Amino acid sequence: IGQELTYHESLPSTQEVAHRLAQEGAVEGHVVIADEQTSGKGRLGRVWHSPIGTSISMSIILRPKVSPQKAPQLTLLAAVAVVRGIEKTTGLQCSIKWPNDILLNGKKIVGILTEMQSEPDYVHSVIIGIGINVNHKREQFSSELREIATSLAIAKGEEVSRAKLMSSVFYELESLYEQYLLEGFDVIKPQWESYAISLGKRIVARTIQGTIEGVAKGITNDGVLLLEDDDQVVHQIYSADIEIK
Ligand code: BTN
Repeated sequence: IGQELTYHESLPSTQEVAHRLAQEGAVEGHVVIADEQTSGKGRLGRVWHSPIGTSISMSIILRPKVSPQKAPQLTLLAAVAVVRGIEKTTGLQCSIKWPNDILLNGKKIVGILTEMQSEPDYVHSVIIGIGINVNHKREQFSSELREIATSLAIAKGEEVSRAKLMSSVFYELESLYEQYLLEGFDVIKPQWESYAISLGKRIVARTIQGTIEGVAKGITNDGVLLLEDDDQVVHQIYSADIEIK
């Protein structure tokens, strides 16, 4: 991962370029990086801010031979890789809020967006977009974002090398991905669970179908969240915003 790399100073979104390169046949592990994104994409149609020089904004092309239902597993795998990369480069310990928000001191530090190009029964490519708040200063976050987001530099009190962090994330991602291809998600799931903060807690899940409150019981082998409501009905949550009560 990261052996082949396309670098841009500024792009609307690294996701779009990665989708195009994937269609044109880019090799597995190809990474698209930008120093700045002018219209970065977040989950659920939101905007992702990546001001120049402060963030890591990258999209990684993978081509696992799995069915489209299995693609969420790769999102969880990527989250584990980023948590490890951050820990190895900075010593900071992050946690994961399902599915793939990475938090430090309760505030968001990394966002991951997984998109795929697929047929009904097989995946052409999975594009994993990773945005890490590395060297933002407090005043670079808007006042609303300051409440909910932070950066590695804020937490550590000094600048963090983006190059070192990036190569550490590539290394962790590659070793987890190889493990996944050989042994499946069974070996990744417990690693994800060891960093997860929502499990066993009372949460509110806002989905497009509506809002459900209950206890997060765990995740399925496909990375789906199991939420037990107060009538002991277990709901399968595929995509939602989670608030921990
Ligand atoms: C989220 O909403 O938490 C996901 C944010 C994902 C942001 C990354 S930055 C690199 C890649 N390019 C994009 O436009 N988005 C992703």
